[in-house]
Amino acid sequence: MNLNGDFSGKTVLVVGGTSGICRAAAERFAGLGCSVCVISRSQEKIDATVAALAELGAQDSCGYSVDVRNGEALREALRQLHARWGALDIVVSGAAGNFPALASNLSDNGFAAVVDIDLKGTFHVMSAIYPYLRKPGASVINISAPQAQLAMAGQVHVCAAKAGVDMITRTLCIEWGAEGVRVNSVIPGPVEGTEGMERLAPDEKMRGKIAATVPLQRLGRGRDIADACVFLSSDLASYISGVVLPVDGGWSLGGAATIGTGLAQMLQQQQQ
Ligand code: NAP
Ligand code: COA
Repeated sequence: MNLNGDFSGKTVLVVGGTSGICRAAAERFAGLGCSVCVISRSQEKIDATVAALAELGAQDSCGYSVDVRNGEALREALRQLHARWGALDIVVSGAAGNFPALASNLSDNGFAAVVDIDLKGTFHVMSAIYPYLRKPGASVINISAPQAQLAMAGQVHVCAAKAGVDMITRTLCIEWGAEGVRVNSVIPGPVEGTEGMERLAPDEKMRGKIAATVPLQRLGRGRDIADACVFLSSDLASYISGVVLPVDGGWSLGGAATIGTGLAQMLQQQQQ
């Protein structure tokens, strides 16, 4: 489908857009001729991504090095971005941290680190973008995770944080709807070649087992999630807000429940 005309010149911010799934989203919007900004911590990753986005056809590309745990630094970056582009049409927010740890082996600080990045970080992003969203018309997408809906051994911190992310999505759908801003969540399934997948399924055998539990019989690709972000930001989705959309080949209908068992076994063996 040729979407270039619909997206050309749109302004897109992708938080966490320097690797994995969110980088795929940033690249997809760049290929459609949008102006794309990425935010993450590493200046090195930002520089490489900004150059790649320009190569792919972005009208403009830029980036800011900010830790989403720092709300004031995010607000300053957004002030600078607004001075460069004006209003924001599309925001994808997916900066996150994850590591497998049983609750019995997780320190207060370990729990807090993930909640601070995933949950409080999402609030910081929402609060920093709000003044600069195009009203009406903006589309905001939070990248959630299956753990938001499914209890998973070794993931108490992520389950708690991502469930909160989806409630931020739903609440802001209600608060911002009257101004013509749509807010949705996307729940990726297990996506090949990503840091998140490496951490939860570090060997090929585990990843093969996971793929076999996906009804569509394959792992996801960054492009699958990026395409869903494009759809949710398009006119085709102009009456869709407040949804939590799994993009997972049907994994959430059952297969996803099995990953926790594998994780628990791996973590228990490590502790012995
Ligand atoms: P990833 O490659 O590790 O990407 C994470 C991104 O967030 C990077 O750009 C990273 O860049 C940035 N980031 C991390 N901590 C940050 C912080 N404190 N402040 C600012 N930026 C930060 O991750 P991924 O595996 O693609 O996952 C992306 C999203 O999809 C996450 O929200 C994850 O929960 C979700 N998800 C992933 C999967 C999967 O299979 N991978 C499945 C379901 C859901 P810097 O290092 O430069 O900060
Ligand atoms: N098991 C148990 N606890 C762990 C852990 C693990 N595998 N990894 C980190 N922690 C704990 C640390 O021990 C520390 O707690 P402590 O002070 O009580 O010892 C706490 O988590 C914070 O660790 P620290 O390394 O200081 O955090 P950070 O802020 O530098 O990094 C992380 C945050 C830990 C989430 C880091 O993995 C990260 O930056 N991840 C981003 C990439 C990513 O996770 N991608 C996948 C996205 S789904």
